[in-house]
This record gives sequence, C-alpha cells and structure tokens, in this order.
Amino acid sequence: MREPTPGTILISAGQIQQRVREIARQIARDHPEPADLHFVCVLKGAFMFLGDLIRAMDRTVSIDFMALSSYAKGATSSGEVRLVKDLDTGLEGRNVVIVEDIVDTGLTLSYLQEILRARSPSSLRTACLLSKPSRRLVEVQVDYIGFTIEDRFVAGYGLDYAEKYRNLPHISVVEGDLEPANLS
Ligand code: IMP
Repeated sequence: MREPTPGTILISAGQIQQRVREIARQIARDHPEPADLHFVCVLKGAFMFLGDLIRAMDRTVSIDFMALSSYAKGATSSGEVRLVKDLDTGLEGRNVVIVEDIVDTGLTLSYLQEILRARSPSSLRTACLLSKPSRRLVEVQVDYIGFTIEDRFVAGYGLDYAEKYRNLPHISVVEGDLEPANLS
C-alpha cells in the first residue's frame, strides 16, 4: 500500500492565477454593470477559486455558500446528491454564477443547477476551475472552464484527497493507492 500524496504538478500556481483573471474578465463582460452579480460557491472545494475570482473583479459583487454531498459507491458517484447547507438568501431576479471546483461525472452540478434554476434567478451561469470530460455521465452546461484535464485524481487549490492538501497553491496529481471511499 503506497500512501497517496500529491506528486506531479499538473497546473502551477501562476497558471491558475492567470486563468482565474481571464475568467473574471469573461464574467464581467457577460454581466455588464450596473447588473448585480451574485456568486454561489460550492463548499468546500471551490473556496479558493471563489476568493481569487472575486478579488480579480473590479466591481461590487455578493457571495453565498452552499454544501452538497454525494454518496460515493466505490470509485464512482451513485448519483444521489444531498443538500447539506443551503444558501442564506434567495435568488429571485438575480444574476447568479455558480462557482464549483471540478465537474467530473456532472451529477453534482446538474442537480445543483436544477435546484437553483427553480429559484427563478434572472440568469444562471456556471464557472468550474477544472473539467474531466472523459468521466461525464450526464450532459451539463458549464459557461466558464478553467482547465480541461484527463481522468486523474487531483488535489490542491481547494481540492482535497481525504480532506487533505486543500492548501496547496497549485494542482497536483494524487499518486499512490487511492482509497475508493475518498474519491469524493
Ligand atoms: P461529479 O458529481 O462526479 O461531477 O463530482 C464532482 C465532485 O467530485 C467535485 O465537486 C469534487 O468534490 C469531487 N471530485 C471529482 N474529481 C475530483 C478530483 O480529481 N479531486 C478532488 N475532488 C474531485
């Protein structure tokens, strides 16, 4: 058994910062002022992406947080997603951007988009730092994608393996014998 640890750096801190600034510019272009701009951050993995994204925006924004859990069955998600923490405020008539760390099978995001759409925002867009298209089980609309990656388990910049490595400023491939229960 080889203890899983972050190995090869897939995306450096500098590359992330540059891409996050580009995404911030795209989001600003798509929501010209004086439109309001409300970010919904999916905990825990997207907290760092949200922090850098909103600091790269030279305008007034508001933020809220939501937490979901998916029941993993082995290495793949069962598709059952549960709302663990709901938003503090409603979304009616607001311009909402979901901020997510990674879209993998797409099950979490499609569930989230469905429940948020039902709250009647005036627009609903999604920003994901990472996408693993080869793992997709359901089609899901993502308006802003940071980086498209292959089917490797990664950690860092908010993403974890077994609740560890979220504090790394870059994204690394987790190498070793991964426990299926921790491939959230
Ligand atoms: P999905 O529902 O399969 O798209 O799963 C999305 C969630 O799985 C993400 O929000 C992450 O929490 C987690 N996840 C998927 N792949 C990775 C990875 O490579 N590293 C860390 N977390 C991941």
